[in-house]
Amino acid sequence: MTRELRDCLGHFATGVTVVTCEIDGVKHGATVNSFTAVSLEPPLVLVSLDRRSKACHHLDNRPFVVNVLKADQGDIAMHFAGRPAARPIPWDGTRIRDSLAHIVCAPWRSYDGGDHVLYLGEVEEIEVHQGDPLVFYRGAFREAGA
Ligand SMILES: Cc1cc2nc3c(=O)[nH]c(=O)nc-3n(C[C@H](O)[C@H](O)[C@H](O)COP(=O)(O)O)c2cc1C
Repeated sequence: MTRELRDCLGHFATGVTVVTCEIDGVKHGATVNSFTAVSLEPPLVLVSLDRRSKACHHLDNRPFVVNVLKADQGDIAMHFAGRPAARPIPWDGTRIRDSLAHIVCAPWRSYDGGDHVLYLGEVEEIEVHQGDPLVFYRGAFREAGA
């Protein structure tokens, strides 16, 4: 079931984000496509993190930034999924520079999501830029059609 389920769920095309935070002056990030909007009043978004990941522990009760990636940031997506990029990561504080959008969140609640933890963040600040999104579909990065 697990493999078939993953394959089935992979038919749902998503954008790609890197969820970043800072702990004791050290910046951390994890590539996440389980990002979704939840509520406008109050403004809430959600990310779902594998309990086995370091990121899952990092986000516990901690502010975070959702960086929505552009089409040309596939190497950054892979970097924060465990395959180091050939270029330095263009940090701008806790944000990743040149992303399509930044969503700055305060911790709101976390919920049991089976082998994942669902983290809801309250949106405190947003920033959007021009560009095309990086798309993830059936296990590969794609560019959005017109
Ligand atoms: C396109 C893509 C999307 C991913 N989405 C998620 C996700 O939504 N949740 C998650 O827990 N891991 C996701 N991952 C896997 C994490 O990025 C990966 O496990 C990461 O290395 C966690 O590292 P850490 O243990 O250093 O925090 C995704 C990976 C890729 C390439």
